[in-house]
Amino acid sequence: MVTELVSPPPKRVSGRVPYVGAGLDFLRDPTELLKRARVEHGETFLLEAFGFKLLFVFSPAGVRSLYKLPERQASFVEATRTLIGFKLPEELLSSEAGMSMFHHLFGRSQVEGYLSHMVDAVRADLAELPVAGELEIFSHMKKIVHRMGFRCWAGREAVTPRYLARLVTLFEQLDPEEAFVHPAKTFLTVLTRKAPERRALAKVRAILDDIWERRTREGRREGDLFESLHELYAAEPTEVRSARVAQDVMILQLASLANLYAALSWTLVNLLLAPELLSRVRSGDFALIEQCAHESIRIAQRSITLRKVVAPCTLDDGERSFELAPGVFVATMLSVNNSAFPGLDRFDPDHYEKSRVAARVGLPTPEVVSTFGHGVHACPGQRFAVSAIRTAIAELVGGLELEPLFSSAAPKASQLGAVARSAEPCIVRFRKRRFS
Ligand code: HEM
Repeated sequence: MVTELVSPPPKRVSGRVPYVGAGLDFLRDPTELLKRARVEHGETFLLEAFGFKLLFVFSPAGVRSLYKLPERQASFVEATRTLIGFKLPEELLSSEAGMSMFHHLFGRSQVEGYLSHMVDAVRADLAELPVAGELEIFSHMKKIVHRMGFRCWAGREAVTPRYLARLVTLFEQLDPEEAFVHPAKTFLTVLTRKAPERRALAKVRAILDDIWERRTREGRREGDLFESLHELYAAEPTEVRSARVAQDVMILQLASLANLYAALSWTLVNLLLAPELLSRVRSGDFALIEQCAHESIRIAQRSITLRKVVAPCTLDDGERSFELAPGVFVATMLSVNNSAFPGLDRFDPDHYEKSRVAARVGLPTPEVVSTFGHGVHACPGQRFAVSAIRTAIAELVGGLELEPLFSSAAPKASQLGAVARSAEPCIVRFRKRRFS
């Protein structure tokens, strides 16, 4: 019963069909449905869909309160498990890649160590392009981010022709994005008890073992993250160590692919649509790339901030205080508030000063706009992601003349979670600059 989960009972958004509830409208265009519900029901309401009960909050106080809820009461980890648990094998969900590892991996000095891998990855990609041609931005940026990621986590060998294509194919078999984009495949995952996903993980492990065995045989030290992961599990028997390294590498790749390639793509799309900004970047204004990255993420962000209540807690939305019982989810969808304040309905990198929304925008509280999250669960990969975007954009616009064959681009309406993919392909004509 709703009243047992949220008290006092909030306004409810539910469809006509029991169980499905408002689910179908929600899946069709979640941002639009939530914007409409907000007009109709106010800043806090309960949405029922597919048996889930989600308490949505949008007021400044409500959103602030959501980000302050402690993990032991309103769990990010449990909410994430629920969302992607149907796709990923249990081994990956319980991977050693705990939060402390993420924070340890993405400190300032660590990220500086990744920079040369990032540059090499983009240059290798450019070297493979013909002198001139056309490419689709989102699919091509995905390729680049795969190369950057595997190179950073699994060593330079991982991105050689011997392994890269195989690693990418195996990754696609695990990627939860596939399950969102093709829901029918999710049923297959459930039916097969994730057997193909498990097989993919085992094959990744065999590739990474091969890389490690070659290094060991040749007595070669690379001083990279792959080596650090092997050192981290050095006390474990070989079998366990090899399994954990493979799980961590795939978790890192999943975490970066979820948002990074789309964020990089939108940054490039927005620069191509604003030639005056592009020419500032070409003349060396790299700080502008970072502002453009944040601004692009703000506009394309479709992430749902979701917590599963696991112990009784209180949420204050500024007007009322709600008692929440285990079982209900607390949520906000970033695409609703991210454009709801004056001026924020359009792209302008000056909305940002470095990584923060500029004071002149006049937000009631910083939490109402989010790119990399707030509070304890804010993204540990932010520094890595922004460096990757800055590096990739500088190399791409430095190495290529680019002519967009589109005059506008918009996020996919149905996107729920992460930075949106584009509704339509974004084709660009390119020519290598040093050949022109
Ligand atoms: C442009 C790229 C990225 C964007 C926009 C992004 C966005 C976010 C957001 C909004 C959250 C907070 C989720 C919440 O509060 O519910 C988050 C958390 C997280 N992100 Fe990212 N992210 C990006 C790249 C990365 C990368 C490259 C990694 C690592 C390889 C990463 C790893 C994580 C992890 C582990 C968390 C959970 C943190 C915790 O619970 O403490 N992200 N990210």
